[in-house]
Amino acid sequence: MTNSTWAAVDHFVEASLRLSDPILEAALLDSAAAGLPAIAVSPAQGRLLHLLCLAIGARRVLEIGTLGGYSAICLGRALPSDGRLISLELQPEHAAVARANLARAGLSDRVEVIEGRASDTLARFQAESMPPFDLVFIDADKPSYPDYLRRALELTRPGGLIIADNVVRGGALIDPDNPDPMVRGVREFIQLLEAEPRLRATVVQTVGSKGYDGFAIGVVLAPSGPGQRDR
Ligand code: SAH
Ligand code: DHB
Ligand code: MG
Repeated sequence: MTNSTWAAVDHFVEASLRLSDPILEAALLDSAAAGLPAIAVSPAQGRLLHLLCLAIGARRVLEIGTLGGYSAICLGRALPSDGRLISLELQPEHAAVARANLARAGLSDRVEVIEGRASDTLARFQAESMPPFDLVFIDADKPSYPDYLRRALELTRPGGLIIADNVVRGGALIDPDNPDPMVRGVREFIQLLEAEPRLRATVVQTVGSKGYDGFAIGVVLAPSGPGQRDR
């Protein structure tokens, strides 16, 4: 089994389940035309984000790392008409492409892209006691994942989900001596997931058109609810 099999199966699943559509395709084309890197989630991964929002009835979603808005479209399409997605992006050029892609998707009324360093924006949300989110998707700079997790935890309701992309990194995750700051970031992120009593989490390895990687998925536990005492 090879990388080309993974991609072929991804394409089969995309076609069989009609995971893409002209709006998602245009988002990728315009992102590429604007010179953005081709690092959006795959159609199947985007559908997973969409399904997780639907499964928990998410009304308020936070994304950290917008890029051209591909995953934001997948998340935003799972929201009710009075729902809200806030997506944080450092690069103004990325945010501009994302806003145009979200407008074409008809989601401008419920999705807001906020420019700036995500840590600063999150700190502001914490200081302003932002109403809690139902789901947080972490997908920006990997060395900051531990910081994003700490802040996301304060901003997510009990029963809510915290999801992080790219935590397996072709298997580099398991090497304690890897000096890559991205690997160190995701390793510390996983340690925090385990150490934090308010979270119950797992890592799902993925293969496909984006190669070999994985998502971390955590549920924020209620202080004295189910799951709290049976680790
Ligand atoms: N979620 C997107 C992909 C995000 S790529 C999708 O799947 O469609 C990661 C994005 O995080 C890039 O656009 C990058 O500019 C942004 N980013 C990097 N560092 C950041 C920071 N400190 N704060 C906010 N965004 C950041
Ligand atoms: C990179 C970032 C991502 O979020 C991703 O899904 C793939 C690659 C990167 O920075 O290279
Ligand atoms: Mg990613």
